[in-house]
Amino acid sequence: MDMAVGAEPADRAREPWGNTVLVEFDEGIAWVTLNRPDKRNAMNPTLNEEMVRVLDALEGDERCRVLVLTGAGESFSAGMDLKEYFREVDEARATNPAVQIRVRRASAEWQWKRLAHWSKPTIAMVNGWCFGGAFTPLVACDLAIAAEHAQFGLSEVNWGIPPGGVVSRALAATVSQRDALYFIMTGETFDGRRAAEMRLVNEAVPADRLRERTRELALKLASMNPVVLRAAKVGYKIAAEMPWEQAEDYLYAKLEQSQFLDAEAGRQKGLAQFLDAKSYRPGLGAYDPTA
Ligand code: COA
Repeated sequence: MDMAVGAEPADRAREPWGNTVLVEFDEGIAWVTLNRPDKRNAMNPTLNEEMVRVLDALEGDERCRVLVLTGAGESFSAGMDLKEYFREVDEARATNPAVQIRVRRASAEWQWKRLAHWSKPTIAMVNGWCFGGAFTPLVACDLAIAAEHAQFGLSEVNWGIPPGGVVSRALAATVSQRDALYFIMTGETFDGRRAAEMRLVNEAVPADRLRERTRELALKLASMNPVVLRAAKVGYKIAAEMPWEQAEDYLYAKLEQSQFLDAEAGRQKGLAQFLDAKSYRPGLGAYDPTA
């Protein structure tokens, strides 16, 4: 595994981010780890700004074909940092209102705007605590795998606020209204198994299989046509909010865009290998990009 951050100081100096996020490269997978384990990976303004830089840097980095987002230690993320993101910003806002605007912008930029439509496949690997604001990057990732024991919670009501940012919007995009309102209004926790039942995550696995299962899925995505995957995932997310007529036109445009951009010529290869060479079944697996 090629460790880009957290290894040699010289390597670290070349990378555009700092110590609150770790990035490791492994056969096309970029393991991006929120790295404030002492604070249960609560997202403070420093981490948010680093994550913006990480996403921008990895977008053009050939070592990254798939991004896995996870947390250091026993937490995925305990949500927004109650001290640095809330209390200290409240205090600073009294003399400089721009502070709140700036920290909210960095938070939204990576947790939602950049991540939800990121150009490469993304998987959230929920290894432990996942609270409040952490639901935003969780849902923004295309896929999610949780440890069965991971604990999730919309704990905002427990400390006196309704969920902010786009947390409730993210819930509305994934789980049923009954489940969303139950957990938003009670602040109770639920585990990885329950998260999988609610379809907040794709699956829950025992903790000792979490990394292995996530890696297996990431390697599969890393082996697939990146242009087609990008068109497929972005097309799905944007079309989901469109009227049907517009969605049809947009998705055909996306299909044609992907043919135009696809240097691998996947469509021609796929059709030729199925119809002419009869060398594979598209229903059962992917075409051979090297043939
Ligand atoms: N913001 C700021 N600091 C946080 C934090 C958060 N969201 N979550 C944890 N921390 C800090 C604690 O203040 C503590 O710091 P200290 O060592 O300087 O006292 C440290 O992380 C460890 O937290 P602790 O509560 O002792 O860990 P735990 O393992 O017993 O419990 C949690 C873990 C996640 C259950 C608990 O920390 C918690 O409830 N955090 C808040 C979760 C939350 O409501 N998030 C929503 C934010 S929108």
